[in-house]
Amino acid sequence: MAKQITLGMLKPDAIQSGKAGLIIAHLQKEGFTIRAARLTRLSKAQAGKFYEVHKDRPFYADLCGFMTSGPVLPMALERDDAVAHFRKVIGATDPAEAAEGTIRKLYAQSKGMNAIHGSDSVENGLREVAFFFTESELADLWG
Ligand code: CMP
Repeated sequence: MAKQITLGMLKPDAIQSGKAGLIIAHLQKEGFTIRAARLTRLSKAQAGKFYEVHKDRPFYADLCGFMTSGPVLPMALERDDAVAHFRKVIGATDPAEAAEGTIRKLYAQSKGMNAIHGSDSVENGLREVAFFFTESELADLWG
């Protein structure tokens, strides 16, 4: 399997609860390399754009409200089969349904406050990484 890049984003609940370090260590143990990362706070416009695909869903306003309620930590993560493996490691959207040992089972509180976002396809991984990081930011450190 070739190397892929995916976007992982620690959500405000994970930053607030002080679990960021544990979650990053968990991802590194799973073989992900951090290619870029930034602690930032999304504006309403940025959150709305990032989650635009959900704009007609009933939870869209709550989702955007939550994602702008505090800092987030987006990361460009590289690994073989990164997109599928990341989704396996984070577990189901709802922590009540997430498998034992997954990040959401360990650290999430609810479907909305679910600790971490992961890209759902290779194409979206590239799009979401490009949402937060420029090509030169990704290349500068690693060549
Ligand atoms: P995420 O992986 O960031 O992608 C979309 C997010 O919408 C998802 O994680 C959840 O946090 C959120 N979400 C999905 N379904 C619901 C729901 N029924 N109620 C509230 N939030 C939801």
